Amino acid sequence: MSLLRKKKGVKPENSSITVRRMDFVFDEQVPRYWADNSPFLTHTLNALSATFPVGERFFVDTVRHYRDRISNPQLKKEVSAFIGQEAMHAKEHESYNDHAAAHGFDMAGIEAEIAGRIEFMKKNLSPERQLAITCALEHFTAIMAEAMLTTPDMYEGFHPSIAKLWLWHAVEENEHKAVAFDVYQEQVGDYWIRVRAMALTTFMFTFNQARFQTRLMYEDGQLLKPMEWIKGANRLWGRKGWFRKLIPAYLEYYKRDFHPWDSDTRELLEKWKAELKLDEQAIKKAA
Ligand SMILES: [Fe+2]
Ligand SMILES: [Fe+2]
Repeated sequence: MSLLRKKKGVKPENSSITVRRMDFVFDEQVPRYWADNSPFLTHTLNALSATFPVGERFFVDTVRHYRDRISNPQLKKEVSAFIGQEAMHAKEHESYNDHAAAHGFDMAGIEAEIAGRIEFMKKNLSPERQLAITCALEHFTAIMAEAMLTTPDMYEGFHPSIAKLWLWHAVEENEHKAVAFDVYQEQVGDYWIRVRAMALTTFMFTFNQARFQTRLMYEDGQLLKPMEWIKGANRLWGRKGWFRKLIPAYLEYYKRDFHPWDSDTRELLEKWKAELKLDEQAIKKAA
């Protein structure tokens, strides 16, 4: 752990955001049920991945809208790095989604539905509210990412090439976890817009995630296999469930003085960057 004590409410000075090119290849070696040989868990992650390319481009657009008005030069650099990282995530998850589609899953249908919802938000919501939705979803990705990086049970059963995709994405989500939030605080700053957006986003996100997972299970002939659902639901929401353990970190977001770096993940990130040899893939250390 760094000897520097992190100041509350800001990104620590010795953390960095690096844009990396990965170019993952998912071949026929990757089994149909690559997550612990479980259709349920594989489709939980398929449903998430299907939403990433269009979702992450929406995050970029909502933050880019404010780029020229940002007064803090460091934050401006971080915005460029954030845009670079999210663009790479969209590209790599597109490649993964093509792989899942090759197994016969309608990833494009989910993507089209999310794209329609995003179009609706862009037409009907103010830039402030769109940015607040991005901040809410960035909190989701940051806490899921931190849980993945600290819970071997979440990734040890994954096929290695897919594990690397999710772990790389988890590292970068943590590196840039405060960028949209800091832009929001500088440019908008309204607490109630922020937390109302989180409440609405929580409902939409969990509802859609459940619906997309059900759809994928149906397409895969798994809908009427109760044991598959019971085992999977226990893995996500049981006593040591992946999602259940996120609840305290999720609730932190509702504090007035919340900041994404209140959870100091610098040491964790250093460990994973070394483990995955990520610095060899750096194309730009931008902020
Ligand atoms: Fe991302
Ligand atoms: Fe992100």
